[in-house]
Amino acid sequence: MNNIKANNNKTDNLRTVITDTSGYDVKRIRKDFPILHTTVHGKPLVYFDNAATTHKPLAVIEKTRKYYEETNSNIHRGVHFLSQKATNEYEEVREKVRGFINAKSHKEIIFTRGATEAINLVASTFGRMNIGEGDEIIISHMEHHSNIVPWQMLAEEKNAIVKVIPINDHGELEMDKLPGLITDRTKLVSIVHVSNSLGTVNPVKEIIDLAHSKGIPVLVDGSQSIQHLKIDVRALDCEFFVFSGHKLYGPTGIGVLYGKEDILDSMPPYQGGGDMIAAVSFERTIYNELPFKFEAGTPNIVGTIGLGTAIDYITSVGIEKIAAYEKQLCDYGAEKFAPIPKFRPIGTAKDKVSVFSFILAGIHPHDIGTILDFEGIAIRTGHHCTQPVMKRFNIPATARVSLAMYNTKEEIDHFVHAINKVFEVFS
Ligand code: ALA
Repeated sequence: MNNIKANNNKTDNLRTVITDTSGYDVKRIRKDFPILHTTVHGKPLVYFDNAATTHKPLAVIEKTRKYYEETNSNIHRGVHFLSQKATNEYEEVREKVRGFINAKSHKEIIFTRGATEAINLVASTFGRMNIGEGDEIIISHMEHHSNIVPWQMLAEEKNAIVKVIPINDHGELEMDKLPGLITDRTKLVSIVHVSNSLGTVNPVKEIIDLAHSKGIPVLVDGSQSIQHLKIDVRALDCEFFVFSGHKLYGPTGIGVLYGKEDILDSMPPYQGGGDMIAAVSFERTIYNELPFKFEAGTPNIVGTIGLGTAIDYITSVGIEKIAAYEKQLCDYGAEKFAPIPKFRPIGTAKDKVSVFSFILAGIHPHDIGTILDFEGIAIRTGHHCTQPVMKRFNIPATARVSLAMYNTKEEIDHFVHAINKVFEVFS
């Protein structure tokens, strides 16, 4: 790619860990999330499955209902009042997302069904156009299946090669191996920002700068970073950044593909249909301009509008404050979990957020999850759609606690107490 420019600035990986939590009132925040006040099996809910999906503040729930009550209409298609109102609200969210991740233009924000669809979109368009026989795509050993399988499918179709950055016993990328993996056939690096099964924060800025020094574009999977870290796509300088709305306190079924405008412009459309065209005849179809070229058919309008409200909510609390609070919570969790008998953490990277994956020797993670469920505690157990990570640590599965902005130290204490039930059952 000759349009990829090396950035000669020295990078600090853009990780400034902010510790100031002044004004952060978790009790008040919890009041905004109705589901946190429900009970499960007669016990107050402790929701520790936030890496799978986050809960929605009342503002998002109400906005969604209000949209159907007062606005519901199709967008970009009607001269009537409601259609114009829906179009305006939908396009305002595009601008909100642009601001939230500091993209240059609203044309660089494509709405998708989620991060998975965003990666598939890039594989099917950019990938098909730029990756041919013998070319190489670099991913890492800690990718979610959604950042493995689309590249394998493309590699199969094109006879291309998927190469993998290994990880060490702490669940950190072996960065010293990356330069050796890059060749003049490398056409893309596609890398997860924060691992969903290990919690590792990867040095994506360093990776982007290294890739750019060889003219290679980079896709960053931000599914587990967008809700925990301040994202600035212009500072990162990545070609693509993807995330899902439902992990950012928004609705399911809505996600975002950010792409640099010149690259998106050069890519063929993903799906054909209404809205992605400027003109259609049987002789020739002219595609619409960005961003509409990539949004065929009626999109998830209400999901988009809910995502906009979620972004407003996060912005009103402050993503830096959220990050600072979650750091305190993670430090507290690390301290409290370590003395649990038979506790083996999986993923002990120096730079981590939100996720505690663990096993208890001799007890299957599903049993841990089931027993804790009866204590009202929701955790995820299994391979977390990262089977290669499980293989790397030679385990079938882990139990995973994943934290969010509304979790508390008291909930962590409750979890540590409830773990005793697991030992009671298996004593
Ligand atoms: N990828 C999501 C998780 O980690 C679903 O649970």
